[in-house]
Amino acid sequence: MESISETELQLVEAAVGTALDTDDHTALEILGYGEVSVAVGWPSASPRWAVKRMPPFADRAAFDGYADLVTGYIRHLEDAGVSIVPTEVRAIPGPSGSCIGYLVQPVLDRATLAPNVLRAADPAVGHPLIDSIIDAVMACTDGHTGIDAQITNWAWIDGRAVNLDVNTPFVFDETGRPLLDLDMFIGALPWVVRATQRKAGPKIIARWAKPRWTLTDLAMNLHKDHLEDWIPVVVKAANARLDDPIDESSLRAQYDKEAKLWVKLHRLKKIDRWWQRHIRRRRYQFLVPASTDYSETKS
Ligand SMILES: Nc1ncnc2c1ncn2[C@@H]1O[C@H](COP(=O)(O)OP(=O)(O)O)[C@@H](O)[C@H]1O
Ligand SMILES: [Mg+2]
Repeated sequence: MESISETELQLVEAAVGTALDTDDHTALEILGYGEVSVAVGWPSASPRWAVKRMPPFADRAAFDGYADLVTGYIRHLEDAGVSIVPTEVRAIPGPSGSCIGYLVQPVLDRATLAPNVLRAADPAVGHPLIDSIIDAVMACTDGHTGIDAQITNWAWIDGRAVNLDVNTPFVFDETGRPLLDLDMFIGALPWVVRATQRKAGPKIIARWAKPRWTLTDLAMNLHKDHLEDWIPVVVKAANARLDDPIDESSLRAQYDKEAKLWVKLHRLKKIDRWWQRHIRRRRYQFLVPASTDYSETKS
C-alpha cells in the first residue's frame, strides 16, 4: 500500500475537524460508521485510503503505546493465520503536545465487504466466507487474544476472509484484563456514566477471549445488518466447531439486549457532545452518526 503523506493526513484532519465542529459530514466520503470509529475515504473525490481517526492521545508516549499494541496485535493474528487488511498506524501532532492517531488502510471495493457478499449470495446455498471467518476465529482466540468477528469487520478477498477492524485490539493479560486503555473510548461519554463504564468495560471486552461468545456475537449481529436469513447458516457452521453449541433461539433476545445498550451509548454521546461544545466550549472528538444501525432492526 502506498503510504499517505504527512501533508495529506493534515488535510484529512482539517476536513474531519470541520465535520466534528459542525456535525455536517457531507463533505467527507464516509465508508462506514463502526461501533467506535468512522472510516473515511480519502481523497474524497476518488478515495485511495480508508482513514480512521482515533480520539487524541495526551502525548506521544500514549500514542506509541497504542500503536505498539495495534501492530503487535496484527502480527499475532497474522501468525495465527488470520488475514488482515494492510494497516498503518500514524500520528499527527495535535494541540498542546497531544497526538492524533489514524489507522490507514487501502480502500476496499464495496462488493468485497462481507455484508455485501452475503447480500449477493443465497443462504440456502451458503458461502465459503462463513467457514473462513469461523476458521479465523478458532485460530486466533486463545484466551490471550480475541477478534471482533462481526460480519461488518470482514472482506472476501482472493477466496479468504480478511479482517479490517483492528482499531480496538482484544489482547488480555494473565488475569484476563484487556491491555487496551479503554479510557480512550470512554471519553466519548458524559462524565456521570464514565465511572460505571470504566468498571464494566474490561468484563465486557473479556467475553471475546472465548470463541463461543465471538461467534454468538457474529450470529446475533446479523439482525443489525438485515442479514437474519444467514443466522441459521452461521450457527450451524459455528456449532460444528464448538464444544458448547450456540442456542439459536436465544439470539434475538440477546441481540435486543445488546442493541439497547448501543442505542443508549449513542444517545449519551450526543448529550456529551452538546455539553462539551456549549458548556466546556471545546471540540467533541468523536464523529457521531445521526442514527445508529442498532435502532433500525425489524422485530
Ligand atoms: N479499508 C476499508 N475499505 C472500505 N471500507 C471500510 C474499510 N475499513 C472500514 N470500512 C467500513 O467502515 C466500517 C467501520 O470500520 P471499522 O474499522 O469496522 O470501525 P469500528 O471499529 O468502529 O467498527 C466497516 O464496517 C466498513 O463498512
Ligand atoms: Mg467494525
